Amino acid sequence: MTGKKRIAVVIGSTRPTRICGGIAAWARDSLQKDSDLDYDLIDLAEIALPFLDEPVKAALQQYEHEHTRAWSKLVQSYHGFLFVFPQYNWGYPGVLKNALDYLYREWHDHPASLLTYGTRGGGKAAEQFISILHGLHMRVLDTHVEAVITDQDVDDDWQLRDLDSTLRPNRAQLRKIDEEMAEALSDSQ
Ligand SMILES: Cc1cc2nc3c(=O)[nH]c(=O)nc-3n(C[C@H](O)[C@H](O)[C@H](O)COP(=O)(O)O)c2cc1C
Repeated sequence: MTGKKRIAVVIGSTRPTRICGGIAAWARDSLQKDSDLDYDLIDLAEIALPFLDEPVKAALQQYEHEHTRAWSKLVQSYHGFLFVFPQYNWGYPGVLKNALDYLYREWHDHPASLLTYGTRGGGKAAEQFISILHGLHMRVLDTHVEAVITDQDVDDDWQLRDLDSTLRPNRAQLRKIDEEMAEALSDSQ
């Protein structure tokens, strides 16, 4: 046990050919550098939640399914969250919304930020997602990242040619997120 506060970096795309895993791992490594916090990846593809199948609303925490109890336990083991996800048709991925909807109180009061990406940075997805985080009573940090990924950054299979050089311009924003996350957590136990 390090005693450090734990932050989940959530991989918010589950497509088999996704670029999200690499982007989230890069973000985790950038955040971890010189940080007093512990950043971990959570992969929604591995969690593999079905479409929300709990009979009772999450606010009551009467979970019928083992997958919900396991997800609740995992989320409760973190103090803060960075959600990493692409813009899909001007919105956020449904799989991410589904994962959020499974729980309610587990999200409350935890600091949260996001890293979106798309040909213009995924700002439309970011805007919608931030309002959901407010709906879940999360403490939305001032800073989030909108990473621009153009056709020049990817090969014919839409895989990033050079992840680090594409994402490097966002490093300063990630440092700010780490600082804001640490500050938000310094006044909570
Ligand atoms: C369903 C779908 C919708 C998309 N919509 C957008 C969009 O609105 N804006 C954008 O910039 N890119 C859009 N794209 C392109 C994605 O940015 C690109 O496919 C990216 O690789 C998706 O992230 P992922 O590979 O991690 O799933 C879309 C891709 C998919 C699969």
